[in-house]
Amino acid sequence: MSPWRASVLTLFPEMFPGPLGLSLAGKALGALWSLEAINIRDHATDRHRTVDDTPAGGGPGMVMKADVLACALDALAPDDRPRLVMTPRGRPLTQGRVRELAAGPGVVVLCGRFEGIDERLIAARQLEEVSIGDYVLSGGEVAALVLLDACVRLLPGVMGKDASAVEESFSAGLLEYPQYTRPAVFEGAGIPAVLTGGDHRRIADWRRTEAERLTRERRPDLWARYRPSDD
Ligand code: 6GU
Repeated sequence: MSPWRASVLTLFPEMFPGPLGLSLAGKALGALWSLEAINIRDHATDRHRTVDDTPAGGGPGMVMKADVLACALDALAPDDRPRLVMTPRGRPLTQGRVRELAAGPGVVVLCGRFEGIDERLIAARQLEEVSIGDYVLSGGEVAALVLLDACVRLLPGVMGKDASAVEESFSAGLLEYPQYTRPAVFEGAGIPAVLTGGDHRRIADWRRTEAERLTRERRPDLWARYRPSDD
């Protein structure tokens, strides 16, 4: 089977793979997934290799040029991968969309910089605008790393079977229950007795109750949508 393939278009190709070259994702890079970072500036055509220009209508900052970005995108061999653009005005990324992307052939990700991207490029190449949350980053690169991390950890063989267990629990709509390990006493605080008592039924019940309590307290939005499953 051909590995999951990520192509990232960016003005800062040195940011990739960055942290994704370490840890389990990094071990799997090359075998279970591939990453190519394409320098948008390599597709500029003028003497100064210009990638941005002043905004029509005036205002601060610079806008990434549609013609240069089109050249960069069109230089990729056509395939079935979704084409995303990271921008704070995009649809918020969800675990559901991550699951879909990880199940497909890979992604093409355009990283925006400056004050934005010429709107005509987004329309002409039918890019899916994706945000990773309601705050503003200086560019799409870190957001792209977040998206790739979330996808890669779901690829078969990358994390072992633990990841799917954790993913199922979040997908079930609850936050994770609290975890403990040795030492038995840390700065005077013990481990809840139920977890060391060996009664697996009681342990499962306690974890479920704690997950529900944390979700109710911290994420009323998730709690309102939560529908218990019967496992
Ligand atoms: Cl995808 N890009 C930028 N620049 N800022 C963001 C974002 C993306 N998501 C949240 N903030």
